[in-house]
Amino acid sequence: MTHNLKDNADDIVALCKRYTLFSWAAQGKVNPIPVTRAKGVYFWDAAGKRYLDFSSQLMNVNIGHGDPRVLEAITAQAAELTYAYPGMATRPRGELGRKLSELTPGGPKRTFFTLGGAEAIENAMKIARLYTGRQKIVTRYRSFHGGTFAAASAGGDPRRLANEPGVPWIVRTLDPYAYRSPIYRHCTPEEGDMVLIDLLAEQLEMEGPGNVAAVLLEGYSGSSGIMAPSTPLYWQRLRELCTAHGILLIVDEVMSGFGRTGKWFAIEHYGVQPDLMVLAKGLTSGYLPLGAVVVNENIAAHFDQHELVAGLTYGAHTLACATALACISVYEQDHLVERAAHLGKKLEVKLQRLQEHHPSLGDIRGTGLFYVLEVVKDRATREPMSAWNKPLTPPMAAIAAYLREHGVSTFVRWNLIFVVPPLIIEEQELDEGLSVIDQALAISDRAMA
Ligand SMILES: Cc1ncc(COP(=O)(O)O)c(C=O)c1O
Repeated sequence: MTHNLKDNADDIVALCKRYTLFSWAAQGKVNPIPVTRAKGVYFWDAAGKRYLDFSSQLMNVNIGHGDPRVLEAITAQAAELTYAYPGMATRPRGELGRKLSELTPGGPKRTFFTLGGAEAIENAMKIARLYTGRQKIVTRYRSFHGGTFAAASAGGDPRRLANEPGVPWIVRTLDPYAYRSPIYRHCTPEEGDMVLIDLLAEQLEMEGPGNVAAVLLEGYSGSSGIMAPSTPLYWQRLRELCTAHGILLIVDEVMSGFGRTGKWFAIEHYGVQPDLMVLAKGLTSGYLPLGAVVVNENIAAHFDQHELVAGLTYGAHTLACATALACISVYEQDHLVERAAHLGKKLEVKLQRLQEHHPSLGDIRGTGLFYVLEVVKDRATREPMSAWNKPLTPPMAAIAAYLREHGVSTFVRWNLIFVVPPLIIEEQELDEGLSVIDQALAISDRAMA
């Protein structure tokens, strides 16, 4: 009996659904793509269908799929040493620590390695509490910092709601969401940004600044809808507030780091120095899992005398550290950060053109190769085509289905369509994806109020 490609694809899906659990989903509703191989900006399913990876998988495969330089580095390291427990010293670990100290803004730093973003967030919060002897962490409502218990509590994303009340001592503040936040309704985006910082200053007073260990923000917010303040003053005043109160500034660059916004790290757009930086995703571009908490030398020196009460069996995993070093050299050799900045300017113009033709395109936001489109029922009222934290309405579900059917893989969340391709994407590949989005938007245009 022949086993055709379609049967093979169905087998993979059935096997995964029967014996594994999928994230963030009612299991009966998932309809995963049975992916079997990937190269560059494309991946293929088991039936041989090709998809353009317009979200870099989970906004992490920044250098694209299957880069032979990284694969060679993995093979070479694996032949020598795949793993040593985290109490040991290895060359890839030390070299990667040095590289991150040089690459991240500011003076010398040291890094604590984890397996991914959420664990890095957990440990950044722990380090901030151990260092300051304070408890509270201030975060934003429209933010996501990972799916583990404390990281989920730190994020404001609705994925936290199922685990409420979560960990104590998290205080949330409002977001620089000029398109929708009422704070911006009667003022310019820059004025709105300043109101937010004034409110935060008041909030800190009321929380007792002496109880606040850290403010934790994404360098450029990601899955909540790619939003950023309009003026660097937002970050600069935030930095001043933190310094004045002895509060640490933790910047989560898990999604916004490694070239995504056209700078190595998004915080570089604002000329501000964080005390701790949290990295993952683009650090290894998905070739192997790795996360990192990069701390400034003052914090690191504190732990010369005080125990760093933190650890993971797979912390500073040798093979993962070697992989990160190989990925970073790909960014450098191929000038991918500059490329993201350059191509990002073109992407912005292309998206603006799309907006001219589609009345249902309410807002486009982003920078570098990190963009989101907001689909609305009415441009004047800005009523979203699908509401926040609600299942997709039929038009948004139809857009998601259209993209998938036409071989463009990206995230459609509420009324948001994400455009976050690998930084290696060619302009014609960008056009290929945008042209499918262009066709899909006819669905929302027809569904307008
Ligand atoms: C900004 C941000 N921080 C942290 C995380 C958590 O990273 P991970 O999924 O590797 O645990 C994510 C994941 O999407 C993220 O977007």
